[in-house]
Amino acid sequence: MSLSIGIHDLSIATGEFVLPHTALAAHNGTDIGKYHVGIGQESMSVTAADEDIVTLAATAAAPLIARHGTDRIRTLVLATESSIDQAKAAGIYVHSLIGLPSATRVVELKQACYGATAALQFAVGLVRRDPAQQVLVIASDVSRYDLDSPGEATQGAAAVAMLVGVDPALVRIEDPSGLYTADVMDFWRPNYRDTALVDGQESVGAYLQAVEGTWKDYTEQGGRTLEEFAAFCYHQPFTKMAYKAHRHLLNYCGRDTDPDTVTAALGETTAYNRVIGNSYTASVYLALAALLDQADDLTGKSVGFLSYGSGSVAEFFAGTVVAGYRDHLRTDAHREAITRRTEVGYDAYRALHEHRLPADGGDHATPAQTTGPYRLAGISGHKRLYATR
Ligand code: CAA
Repeated sequence: MSLSIGIHDLSIATGEFVLPHTALAAHNGTDIGKYHVGIGQESMSVTAADEDIVTLAATAAAPLIARHGTDRIRTLVLATESSIDQAKAAGIYVHSLIGLPSATRVVELKQACYGATAALQFAVGLVRRDPAQQVLVIASDVSRYDLDSPGEATQGAAAVAMLVGVDPALVRIEDPSGLYTADVMDFWRPNYRDTALVDGQESVGAYLQAVEGTWKDYTEQGGRTLEEFAAFCYHQPFTKMAYKAHRHLLNYCGRDTDPDTVTAALGETTAYNRVIGNSYTASVYLALAALLDQADDLTGKSVGFLSYGSGSVAEFFAGTVVAGYRDHLRTDAHREAITRRTEVGYDAYRALHEHRLPADGGDHATPAQTTGPYRLAGISGHKRLYATR
C-alpha cells in the first residue's frame, strides 16, 4: 500500500504593519474600485524595520515546533525570492532561532513564487525515503516593487510554515503533478536590485499560459478531472488573478464559466491574500490556510493547487483533506496574525519602503518596531544579528 504523505501542520505569520489600499489610492489618485474590485486587494502587510524573511519564517515555524517538538525533523527547506544573502541559506538563522538540532539539513530554494511547491514536493520525496522523518518547509517573502509603479499595489509580506510527514493531519499530497516551464521575462530581480522588475501584462499572460500547460500535463499524467475538485488554491499575486486563472482553465477545458461556479471553487481561498497582499512563495499556501480555516467540512475532498513562479515554472497537483483536520487547525492564531497588525499611513509606509540596512560594515542597531517574537536587531561587520524578543 502506498504511504500517505502530506501537510501535517501549517502556521502563518505576517508583518507588523498594514497599509490599506485606500491610503495608497488617496496618494496616487487612483479610483479605489481599481484596487478593491479590479485587482481584488484591500490592504497590504508591511514589514517593520526589524523584520525580514528570517523573522517571518521563524514566527511561522515556532508554533509547529512547540506542538510537535524537533525529534523527527531532519531537514528544513526555506523557499524565498526575497533572499537576504547570496550564499548563506536564510533557513540557518531560522534553525538557530527555533532551536533545531545540529543534525539537520538546511537549504534555500529559489524559483520565484514557485519555490515552496518544489520544497513541498522534495519533502514528500524525502519522507517517502524515510517515513520516520519529518521535513519543515517554510515559504517566506517580502514583496517589494518600486514606489509609484503599477506593481506597488500588489506588495505584501508573509510566511507559511508546513510540517511534512507520513499520516498527515491536514492534507495528503497526491501524485501525479502537472509541470510546465517556459523561459519568459515577465518578472525578475537582478542581484543588484532590491525591488522586482515586472512586465505586468506579460506576467498575467505568462501565468495563464502556465495554467494551460500544467493542466495539459496533469491530464496526460492521469490526474483527476475538474469535477473531482471541491476547491482550487491558486498562486494569488492579487486575488483577482485566481479568478482570471480559473476562468481560463474552465474555458480551456470547454466548461461553463458561470460566476457562481467560479466563486464556489475559489471564494474561500482569497480571504488572507486579499488583506496581506502578494507573499510570493507563501501565497498559494495562504490560500490553503484560508480555505481550511473557513470552508465547510472538507473531509475527503480534493483540492487543486496551481503554483506559478514567474520566469517561469508552474505545477498543478492535488491534495486530499484528511478526516479530523479541523482539530489541528490554527484558525484563531491565523486571524490574530492579521488583526494584530498596526495600520500605518502613506508617509510611514513610504519611510519603511525606503529603509535599507547600512552596507558600510559598521555596527548598526535597527529601530525596535516589531512586537513579534523575533527581530533583526542590527548588522555588524556585514553580519545580520537576530534576537528573540
Ligand atoms: N473599478 C473597477 N475595476 C477597475 C477600475 C475601477 N475604477 N479601474 C481599473 N479596473 C480594473 C481594470 O479593468 C483591470 O481589470 P482586468 O484585469 O479584469 O481587465 C484591473 O482593474 C487592473 O487594471 P490595469 O490592468 O489597468 O492595472 P495596471 O496597469 O495597474 O496593472 C498589474 C495591474 C499588471 C496586476 C500590476 O499591478 C502589476 O504589474 N503587478 C505585479 C505583477 C503581477 O502581479 N503579475 C501577476 C502575474 S505574475 C505572478 O503571478 C508572479 C508574481 O507573484 C509576481
